[in-house]
Amino acid sequence: MSIDYFDPREEPVLSASFLKEDEGEHSLRPRLLSEYIGQTKVKENLSVFIEAARMRGEALDHVLLHGPPGLGKTTLAGIIANEMQVNLRITSGPTIERAGDLAALLTNLQEGDILFLDEIHRLNRSVEEILYSAMEDYAIDIIIGKGPAANSIRLDLPHFTLIGATTRAGQLSAPLRDRFGITLRLELYTVEELAEIITRSAGILETPIEPEGVWEIASRSRGTPRIANRMFRRVRDFAQVRADGLITKDVADRALTALQVDHKGLDELDRRMLRSIIEQYNGGPVGLETLAATVNEEAVTLEDVYEPYLLQQGFLTRTPRGRCAAPKAYEHLGIPFMGQMSLESIE
Ligand code: ADE
Repeated sequence: MSIDYFDPREEPVLSASFLKEDEGEHSLRPRLLSEYIGQTKVKENLSVFIEAARMRGEALDHVLLHGPPGLGKTTLAGIIANEMQVNLRITSGPTIERAGDLAALLTNLQEGDILFLDEIHRLNRSVEEILYSAMEDYAIDIIIGKGPAANSIRLDLPHFTLIGATTRAGQLSAPLRDRFGITLRLELYTVEELAEIITRSAGILETPIEPEGVWEIASRSRGTPRIANRMFRRVRDFAQVRADGLITKDVADRALTALQVDHKGLDELDRRMLRSIIEQYNGGPVGLETLAATVNEEAVTLEDVYEPYLLQQGFLTRTPRGRCAAPKAYEHLGIPFMGQMSLESIE
């Protein structure tokens, strides 16, 4: 299997800094479904679909992966390609600017290949329309020329599998969503699963770590393997420089506290969000855009990156009129909770 990144602008698809961080991540990435920890239902289903496609000698049906960032969508695409023994090409919605870019990419695929399209909700409309026939009929219509002399030619494509990944499935247009035969939702990981992932990473990187050290990192990783592995590396640096190399609970705690990650895994912005809802908006409800402006962050970042964990842990609730801080948020920040007082009830 070969993996390559495609970018029509001939720049790396992922920023240089991401790739750098990712180089190490690469070796930590599981390559087989059996090595992939967590997401049990997703794995069970995928293993059946992969085996069936292989038995029939066909390309796997198109797959849509959705869920919060950092849960292993790219990793799963790599595993699927590996299990199907086909090539993987990786690109992302915002890097494909014109229909011709996508056409070039599709016509270069080989039979059975997988095209991984990250952030598929950010494809522009004209590019998305090319995908419809590519996914459904394995063919694309290309317009050649302009005005009355314009001509359309149909290009046949190899049978390929599109794996689309998105943090916001709700933003996909219905025609695109309907063309995926397999839709899988990734959920936040449990602390036990994250502990398994960190133990596996420590084994690969030959880092001594005590079970209590593993648990300390896992319980502060906000349900996300990418965060767990990143924090594990930072704790490992800390253990090497400030201790004797062994990651104990105390070393992990000191390292994570230095990184401003608290015992529940909340960082500075999480706490600022919750504090702002409580102190400036009476505990809520406050609209997402207003909240984003208040904490000086983009609304999509709050919604995609920060909220899933805060909601899952019960720090935050979402109502039709906006976000509210839950009693657990008051308790965590040490602010007395006097019951939710909406402005109407004061008036
Ligand atoms: N590294 C990142 N995600 C992983 C997972 N789900 N299982 C094992 N290792 C991982």
